[in-house]
Amino acid sequence: MTTESYGGRRSGLGRVSSFVVVANRLPVDRVEEPDGTLTWRRSPGGLVTALDPVMRANKGAWIGWAGTTDEAPEPFDEAGMHLVPVRLTAEDVEKYYEGFSNATLWPLYHDVIAPPEYRRDWWEAYCQVNRRFAEAAARVAAQGALVWVHDYQLQLVPEMLRAIRPDLRIGFFLHIPFPPVELYARLPWRQAILRGLLGADLVGFQRPGAASNFLRLTRRLLGYQTQRDRVFLPDGRVVRARSFPISIDVGELEEIARRPETERRAWEIREEIGAPSKILLGIDRLDYTKGIGERIHAFAELLGDGLLTPEEATFIQVATPSRERVEQYQRLRDDVELMVGRVNGAYGRIGRPAVTYLHTSHERSELVALYRAADVMVVTPLRDGMNLVAKEYIACRYDHTGVLVLSEFAGAADEFRQAILVNPYDVDMLKRRLLEAIRLEPREATRKMRAMRRHLVEHDVDRWANSFLSELRGAQRP
Ligand code: ADP
Ligand code: F6P
Repeated sequence: MTTESYGGRRSGLGRVSSFVVVANRLPVDRVEEPDGTLTWRRSPGGLVTALDPVMRANKGAWIGWAGTTDEAPEPFDEAGMHLVPVRLTAEDVEKYYEGFSNATLWPLYHDVIAPPEYRRDWWEAYCQVNRRFAEAAARVAAQGALVWVHDYQLQLVPEMLRAIRPDLRIGFFLHIPFPPVELYARLPWRQAILRGLLGADLVGFQRPGAASNFLRLTRRLLGYQTQRDRVFLPDGRVVRARSFPISIDVGELEEIARRPETERRAWEIREEIGAPSKILLGIDRLDYTKGIGERIHAFAELLGDGLLTPEEATFIQVATPSRERVEQYQRLRDDVELMVGRVNGAYGRIGRPAVTYLHTSHERSELVALYRAADVMVVTPLRDGMNLVAKEYIACRYDHTGVLVLSEFAGAADEFRQAILVNPYDVDMLKRRLLEAIRLEPREATRKMRAMRRHLVEHDVDRWANSFLSELRGAQRP
């Protein structure tokens, strides 16, 4: 890592840091093992994947939830980071996390793929929990510190934090899409959230279109003036808003991919599922935005049409359990599992399933072995801020083999035009693209992968963090 290092030191208030990350989750979740012992496990999702290496290098403080409703553990140090747990009660989890964050904002910001619910008690909980995070950040940040707030769960924190600590430089990065005016304007608390975000000096988005949506909304709903990427506030502050496409630690993944034991495991995986000619792979949180059902449906139709046989191609779908108490997620799990059962019943053979479905979290080394085993990576979200899985696959294909099928609606599609791009809503196109990927000439596959890897290596997570943080450092003093 090459990002500048920020130290931590002690004051009368406890340890304070000159670089503070605030995110809903800590990079590790507190989990109870079957024998009752408490341990820490890596938290799910792309935010942690991207921020973990940045924080290890910068040795800052990370404020977040430990994933349980117990009393928050005392702050502790882990891999050079200072982790500061914030408590969420069972009611907070229900109303702030499962409710407002994941049943209001998540579907609204992802093009209303599922209908968002608007509930006033959820909004109140969102305000209270955002205040708790802002107060925790105010306690931990040293005088003049850089504070980097992350994602849709904490959009009010920048404004709340600035009110307590005007000395700080505050950045905000949204990991998910930011919707157009027509959708955002439905939100009953639309102005409060815009004001919350405008508490930051710099607001970052995954794609330029999301930044334009935000700038347009500040004009339309708040009447503020904007010029290019700048918003002029009535109190004289200037806030910048632009895109910073997030990335991954390419070197770390490539190093794992090159290990002989990884190659051995990739070979074993292929043997275990009946040594098909081609392995297609999907790896996602089990989320309705990811288009898991759409891709399995298209694959099943190819088998049904006789255009593919299970000897020729098999599908591995890894789906990490996610937000399991939210109704839409429970329904999705039932739908996907029913579909996989039907496809295997119709097309699977003994020792040769058509679809291998794994509803579990995996060690990083196992995921990399899967990426190495996969001839075709199928990433078909209906909407996705970026999609780091697509980048992880490219990082692992150091020998320039493998084919990426990528949804036009993932942020990653802006960067990887050489992927086989697809509209996942169009089942016939999805079928054609899967066949094209399976049958792609090796030379053409290598040409595509080489170009994608060149771009990825130059645009890794260091570059993302450095460009955001250097722009934040240069932001106009409050
Ligand atoms: P999101 O942030 O919506 O979850 P991304 O694709 O951007 O989506 O990031 C997902 C991250 O979670 C990736 O780093 C991926 O490797 C990781 N991941 C996905 N599935 C699993 C799994 N079954 N076990 C462990 N990590 C997983
Ligand atoms: O990257 C999107 C994101 O929602 C992160 O904010 C979040 O940490 C991750 O996906 C996983 O979701 P959750 O924290 O709800 O399990």
